[in-house]
Amino acid sequence: MSAFRLNTVILMLMLLLFELSLGESPSFSVDYENNSFRKDGEQFRYISGSIHYSRIPRAYWRDRLLKMYMAGLNAIQTYVPWNYHEESPGRYDFSGDKDLEGFLKLAQEIGLLVILRPGPYICAEWDMGGLPAWLLNKKNIVLRSSDPDYIAAVDKWMGKLLPMMKPYLYQNGGSIITVQVENEYGSYFACDFNYMRHLSKLFRAHLGDEVVLFTTDGAGVNYLKCGSMQGLYATVDFGPGANITAAFQAQRYAEPKGPLVNSEFYTGWLDHWGSRHSVVSSAAVAKSLSHMLAIGANVNMYMFIGGSNFGYWNGANSPYAAQPTSYDYDAPLSEAGDLTEKYFAIRDVIRMYSKVPEGPIPPTTPKYAYGSVKMKKLQTVLDATETLSFSGPVKSTYPQTFTDLNQGFGFVLYRTKLPVNCSQPTPLSSPLNGIHDRAYVSVDRVAVGVLERNKVLSVNVTGKAGSQLDILVENMGRINYGRDINDFKGLVSNVTLGKDSLTHWTMYSLSIDEAVRNGLLGEEPPTRTDQASPVALSPPAFYKGSFIIPYGIPDLPQDTYVKLPGWKKGQIWINGFNLGRYWPARGPQVTLFVPASILSTAAPNNVTVLELEVDPCSSQLCTVEFTTTPVLNATVSEHKPHRRLFSKDFL
Ligand SMILES: *[C@@H]1O[C@H](CO)[C@@H](O)[C@H](O)[C@H]1NC(C)=O
Ligand SMILES: *[C@@H]1O[C@H](CO)[C@@H](O)[C@H](O)[C@H]1NC(C)=O
Ligand SMILES: *[C@@H]1O[C@H](CO)[C@@H](O)[C@H](O)[C@H]1NC(C)=O
Ligand SMILES: *[C@@H]1O[C@H](CO)[C@@H](O)[C@H](O)[C@H]1NC(C)=O
Ligand SMILES: *[C@@H]1O[C@H](CO)[C@@H](O)[C@H](O)[C@H]1NC(C)=O
Ligand SMILES: *[C@@H]1O[C@H](CO)[C@@H](O)[C@H](O)[C@H]1NC(C)=O
Ligand SMILES: *[C@@H]1O[C@H](CO)[C@@H](O)[C@H](O)[C@H]1NC(C)=O
Repeated sequence: MSAFRLNTVILMLMLLLFELSLGESPSFSVDYENNSFRKDGEQFRYISGSIHYSRIPRAYWRDRLLKMYMAGLNAIQTYVPWNYHEESPGRYDFSGDKDLEGFLKLAQEIGLLVILRPGPYICAEWDMGGLPAWLLNKKNIVLRSSDPDYIAAVDKWMGKLLPMMKPYLYQNGGSIITVQVENEYGSYFACDFNYMRHLSKLFRAHLGDEVVLFTTDGAGVNYLKCGSMQGLYATVDFGPGANITAAFQAQRYAEPKGPLVNSEFYTGWLDHWGSRHSVVSSAAVAKSLSHMLAIGANVNMYMFIGGSNFGYWNGANSPYAAQPTSYDYDAPLSEAGDLTEKYFAIRDVIRMYSKVPEGPIPPTTPKYAYGSVKMKKLQTVLDATETLSFSGPVKSTYPQTFTDLNQGFGFVLYRTKLPVNCSQPTPLSSPLNGIHDRAYVSVDRVAVGVLERNKVLSVNVTGKAGSQLDILVENMGRINYGRDINDFKGLVSNVTLGKDSLTHWTMYSLSIDEAVRNGLLGEEPPTRTDQASPVALSPPAFYKGSFIIPYGIPDLPQDTYVKLPGWKKGQIWINGFNLGRYWPARGPQVTLFVPASILSTAAPNNVTVLELEVDPCSSQLCTVEFTTTPVLNATVSEHKPHRRLFSKDFL
């Protein structure tokens, strides 16, 4: 043995002794020999649940995580929605409800490991699958590919996010055991290996060589062909309906050895406006979960708690079908964090395979019925246009999209004049299906109809040449899955009147949330002689009301649900917090979850509604109602369910 080798051996022995004296440093890896994970040198299996911090008010993070821990989970899985943190290029927000580091610290404090899914694309039934809509500033950008502009934006974002995550990796003393790269990439048409290779290198460069990086795909060989990549551990996802043996055989196609992992075991399923509420039986979930745990698989339950799509954050599927505000998902913890029968069924299964913590489970939070709140009509959107349009109007010959107008979410008002006399009903149409996604049409301030993407492409108008034509266009949420994710909003193609394209538009980007927050909306003008609408519609208008939390009742404020009897479709805020969209006329969701954290005992609580189709205050129905019971499953008959969307068509 040479002196050099001897020195090396002595040095290594010294290092070993040093490490032993300090205790082993934390480690987490894939054990290919024993088909498992390995944590601090020991074989390890995770039983995890998905929770999206972006769908739960921060005040409730601890409660939900604790309930997950008490169910016997040893890990949680979360997505990081890029568009939630970088709403405009280079302006990052990690404060308040967006405090991702705060969320990770809380998980660690409670004793939960973390499976992090930072995207860049996340699907998740989230607007544009988490990609920022401003990427569409390059009109023909190929998202989720090697498109240089897309890559440049991804590099910049990951250059911000991943260094922030690095200290939270398990081997650095944090709780993140694995990090997913992209998401179900094998289901995307592009199949761009250079893109996946680029991401793989980027993640390694920022996070180091040690962290376990992984991919997730549908449990079919065809998905894994484009979704998996050398150096990224391939996992699969499937629900209780799947053949478990066959599903894991698909994973074995990409990973002949290593732990079996179902990264998304579906405890429930998503909803769409106008389709039936999805439910999955506890028995089916329990049976399948038990089978997977019995064969030693690692499982993440998607979702363990779904939460809510507050504001405008819901996504949509293609052909266009938007998801509602509630993301309850029929998960074991309800939208409001309530313990369900499914929660206990899952806990009983976990108990057969691993230790479940003793001690009390945090109880279901009490709900309070604050009762009926009388509402009062304020200005219409047309009355308030100047107030709502902070940047002033933009004029152009042909209509521009939300992206052209630099607006992400909400509503844009498009205005022009009727160029000809329409004494007979004349079709106002979007021949190329360019209403993205719903438009409220009025002529001389009288509501004349509603246009809707894929559903209603034409409405008749009458009026004199020179009459004012207003089209208020609502962005109902961007497509989050498949090849149609370049989902431009607004009027994305020309609108015709009879045979001619309408021109000379004046467009108003509306800052409705800011106006609501700052109390800028005025009262209805007193002497109004609105012409009756020929079609039983009212022009979009604001309404307000307020309620106080009763005195002398302990533990108020409590959570509640709001419903809007007699209202049809719109948006609702409480104390300036955008609770989301309501659309009881279409269902299945009827009530919206109102977390206690947005309510005040110090001042009256202010309810603002933007109703798009009717005026309940012209009758006796002008109230909103706070109740203790959620209704997410009101039957709807007029629209066929998107059967195709209820399964991922595996294998
Ligand atoms: C794998 O497990 C076997 C026993 O099942 C054990 O003898 C062996 O040491 C394990 N391998 C590793 C690499 O830990
Ligand atoms: C499940 O898949 C396996 C493997 O492909 C097959 O042998 C088995 O028959 C399937 N079971 C059922 C119930 O279809
Ligand atoms: C519209 O009709 C009025 C009479 O009702 C007529 O004076 C006017 O010239 C017509 N305008 C156009 C643009 O045809
Ligand atoms: C528009 O009016 C024409 C003529 O009255 C009628 O045939 C047609 O059905 C109407 N279209 C719509 C969409 O109401
Ligand atoms: C509207 O039509 C004009 C003329 O054909 C065309 O140049 C323009 O691109 C169209 N605009 C949209 C938004 O489709
Ligand atoms: C509701 O609005 C009133 C009047 O603008 C204001 O005084 C009050 O503070 C608001 N309530 C809350 C909880 O912000
Ligand atoms: C909706 O859910 C409630 C509570 O689970 C249930 O009692 C009711 O039968 C359901 N209604 C429909 C139409 O499915």
